[in-house]
Amino acid sequence: MAQRVAIGNNKGGAKKTTLTIRLAEALAKAGKRVLVIDMDPQGDASRRLGWTDDMTQNTTSEVVFANADGVASQAIQPIGWECEYASRIALIPSRFTLEDRAVEAGQKGAWRRLRRALAGADDHFDYTLIDCPPSLGHLTQLALSAADFALATTEPEHDSVKAAIKYRDFIPASLEDLSNPDLKFIGLVISGYDQRVGAHQGQLSGARDTFGDLVWGVVPERSTIVNADEYAQPLCDVKDSAEVRAVFELLAERFIKEVPAA
Ligand SMILES: Nc1ncnc2c1ncn2[C@@H]1O[C@H](COP(=O)(O)OP(=O)(O)OP(=O)(O)O)[C@@H](O)[C@H]1O
Ligand SMILES: [Mg+2]
Repeated sequence: MAQRVAIGNNKGGAKKTTLTIRLAEALAKAGKRVLVIDMDPQGDASRRLGWTDDMTQNTTSEVVFANADGVASQAIQPIGWECEYASRIALIPSRFTLEDRAVEAGQKGAWRRLRRALAGADDHFDYTLIDCPPSLGHLTQLALSAADFALATTEPEHDSVKAAIKYRDFIPASLEDLSNPDLKFIGLVISGYDQRVGAHQGQLSGARDTFGDLVWGVVPERSTIVNADEYAQPLCDVKDSAEVRAVFELLAERFIKEVPAA
């Protein structure tokens, strides 16, 4: 049975999608089977994993709308990368119509729909990583209701760190509403750090004071990451990516330690 981890931050651009797909990549490289669920109507994780929308595939929108046990198995698809470990990553993609699910939030038990859909569907994976949209609204609540663990990422900037704290604090405040009493916040990744920027130094130190040992590590600001995301490439296909591959591999080691096998 997969352990499910929702990756979030209330703020846009906090590098949620990058962390999701690069963790998936590093975990797959380490031999783990990983399902990525794109819970953002922007569909960035889907595109960056090389998935192409032909408008016929099932996506998170259909899965959530169905409101039926196990239905997510009908939307699990291969990714478009061609590297050796890509076969260990699968995807439930999203497209813009996922936005329509947000308006169903008021319906009885609506926040449980992703959890229902995943029942039995992700059993053959080690981990399910859920890429959340930049909000704590219904789509993120669907993810948090289905997840075992919540992980945050933040840029080393005031508003982003504040929004990561909001995401962390939202969890204990909502456990009952989300019918998920065991959901646990496990960590924070600082993404896009530039040591030459005074504000980044200050926010890194502030985040360490606030989150303590839960700060898993720091991903430096690197154009290799932007380019890999831009061209929907695995890092192994990107020139001069050894440094960033090592950073995500270290984060994956911490992930494996913090997220016990089910
Ligand atoms: N360490 C890094 N260094 C430089 N650029 C990065 C780094 N990590 C991610 N990026 C880039 O920053 C941009 C924003 O990242 P990303 O899309 O992952 O953020 P997000 O939190 O998912 O955004 P949204 O809130 O829109 O979903 C992307 O162009 C991505 O390639
Ligand atoms: Mg994103």
